[in-house]
Amino acid sequence: MAMKFGVKSTAADIKKFTSLITNREAAIRKAKANDINPSFRINELARKYHPDYQKMIISEIISHEGADAKTFVFKKADGSEAAFFRAGQYVSVLLKIDGSLVTRPYSICSSPLEAKQGIVKITVRNVKDGFAAPYMLENFKIGDEIKISGPEGTFYYEELRDAENVIAIAGGSGITPFLSMAYAIRDGLEDFNLTILFGSRTEENILFRNELEAVAKECDKIKVVNVLSDEKKKGYENGFINAKLIKKYAPEGKYSIFMCGPEAMYRFAEKEIEKLGIEKKFIRRELLGVTKKVASLEDYPKEAAGKVFDVKVIIGENEYNIKANADEPVLAAIEKAGIPAPSRCRSGECGWCRSKLVSGNAYTPKENEGRRFTDIEFGYIHPCAAFPLSDMVIEVPGSYMK
Ligand code: FES
Repeated sequence: MAMKFGVKSTAADIKKFTSLITNREAAIRKAKANDINPSFRINELARKYHPDYQKMIISEIISHEGADAKTFVFKKADGSEAAFFRAGQYVSVLLKIDGSLVTRPYSICSSPLEAKQGIVKITVRNVKDGFAAPYMLENFKIGDEIKISGPEGTFYYEELRDAENVIAIAGGSGITPFLSMAYAIRDGLEDFNLTILFGSRTEENILFRNELEAVAKECDKIKVVNVLSDEKKKGYENGFINAKLIKKYAPEGKYSIFMCGPEAMYRFAEKEIEKLGIEKKFIRRELLGVTKKVASLEDYPKEAAGKVFDVKVIIGENEYNIKANADEPVLAAIEKAGIPAPSRCRSGECGWCRSKLVSGNAYTPKENEGRRFTDIEFGYIHPCAAFPLSDMVIEVPGSYMK
């Protein structure tokens, strides 16, 4: 079929185009010399979705007795919406404990839909010999004002990357991102099939048992299988989440595996998953933090073990001289000194704590190496995952959350 071109209108368009710059210059000359409005809508939108921090009030505290945990319901202090998040993301909570300024990342356990009402929920489980978790469980009370970060992390479903069937392997409080994903599927915000294999020690220990049962009843895309390691009970699987169990509940064809739980669970599950021959891109795991036993890592320079180093921390015009233990990340030493340094993931991945190593040496464990090649080349470290090997001078960016 012959094509017809509008010669007249094309010529007019070209004329308009050639006079574009002249017209723009004339418009600029005619415009009033007012200050530019700093609050452009695009910037406001960016701040809404990616706030540096959010001021929240603790509006409710829910105890999970058998699981030794509490859910904290945070509500935006000014009554506005909370930053929208993808189910599976986390927020970083700022804490002031005995002169230390620390942050802790917690997966959000509520539906993204609740962010519209200004609500974000996290669940904190008690940790033996812990620092932040026991503090929060003992001291947080209704009405307290706290600061949390905007949503962070990439542990969410992405249809371009993940299979439409997801097997979630959860241990203990590692269930929280999957509860949020289940709510998001139920609420029509996500569209994939989610089978949760949830490991707990006993029936009494199962966190969110009623909530998980209820959401699975409401939506046939969600299935929950409880696996008890320390007792045998009718209606539950028994033992650990191994290759055989995954196969039993996995669908025909391709599926993704998402994991969230304690380190011991990862170590065990990763070996079992290897037996299934699943493509690497279909295996995802939530961040774990850094090791507490750095000296036991094979490539750790053993001569540094047990030493204490002098660290000069430069933030803008301020300088702080602190001590840092070789077996702790530099960030921990900075926080203990009450210095407000930025951090989010505390696993070496997000880059929020990225700092210039002016002098000295630090060790980053392989599994926490999240720096760009150029950063490694030009002497940048992520203090949350960098252990001091000598006296050091570092330039740290200032923190928004103080
Ligand atoms: S806090 Fe994320 S890389 Fe350090």
